[in-house]
Amino acid sequence: MPTIPAVVDSIASVESLLAPSPADAVAAEVRAGLTSDPKTLSPWLFYDEEGSRLFEQITELPEYYLTRAERSLFTAHADEIIALAAEPSGTDPAPMLTLIELGAGTATKTGILLAAAVRRQRTVVYQPVDVSETALAEATENIRTNIPGVTVRCQVADYTTQALPLNRLPNTRTLALYIGSSIGNFSPAAARDVLRNLRAQLLPGEKLLLGTDLAPCESKTVAELEAAYNDASGVTAAFNRNVLVRLNRELGADFEPDAFEHKALWNARESRMEMHLVSQSAQKVSIPANSSGPVLRVNFKAGESIHTENSYKFTPERIRELLESAGFSLTRTWRNSEHVFAINLATAI
Ligand code: TRP
Repeated sequence: MPTIPAVVDSIASVESLLAPSPADAVAAEVRAGLTSDPKTLSPWLFYDEEGSRLFEQITELPEYYLTRAERSLFTAHADEIIALAAEPSGTDPAPMLTLIELGAGTATKTGILLAAAVRRQRTVVYQPVDVSETALAEATENIRTNIPGVTVRCQVADYTTQALPLNRLPNTRTLALYIGSSIGNFSPAAARDVLRNLRAQLLPGEKLLLGTDLAPCESKTVAELEAAYNDASGVTAAFNRNVLVRLNRELGADFEPDAFEHKALWNARESRMEMHLVSQSAQKVSIPANSSGPVLRVNFKAGESIHTENSYKFTPERIRELLESAGFSLTRTWRNSEHVFAINLATAI
């Protein structure tokens, strides 16, 4: 067994380096989004405590195939992924492996990869990064009880705007995880920037595992895709509207969440699912708690929408292009038999 550098012992198991999104950041985001035309709200606003809970529920819905598809790919290929990521050179002792995960949430699927890492490496550090402190607390608890041998270092951070807090330990290799097709929640240019930012933290040869939902094809209809974002039991609608509930609570806004309808539609030209909250009537909303300016008053016309989320769906060519534009080369892709979802292992070049 390789010698474990002492620094591992001194790492606190749970550590929040950055405070959760302060009210000012929420207020500034809301002001920018609701005064623009068309109106928008940034997707990170979804993930307060209730939003994170609702999202966990989404991942278990019969219509939301993404999580199950990705989980089964992990189950089938975890050992191979870890072996490719660790790739010990020659007869050198196997290095430690650090898995850093962007937008880790409660890290339920990641456990499959961590278990494979522990089987192979013995010394595994897991650094989940997320905006939700409650989700990270749950992630830590999950991993600690189910996969002893993993040192967990949580980081509460918005990886889209903050420098990635990767703490590089001596004699370690890093595998970055960006799963759940979260990359699809960014415009193509922003997606490239997120991956470039991540690339800047890696050494040449280190790996990124990127989960990508796939664009409709012969085995995947637009209707299936739309159902995944508009489930029969209304959980996704509640998740979308919860952003308004959050603004009422945190900023003292007076949204009537039920006066907005959840709408999910496929935009073929942009290759993305779009989520909207559509105002059911002409209405006025005021948003008082706004330290960055005076009370914000917003008028909605009947039928006017707040665009809350995009979820881009990828073709294999597009995945390769995106990775290459960010300084990675595509090493391997695993797709499930129905070609609904892909996980892609890329190498930092
Ligand atoms: N990353 C998820 C996705 O794009 C987020 C998500 C799932 C979502 N369902 C949603 C975002 C509904 C907004 C509304 O698939």
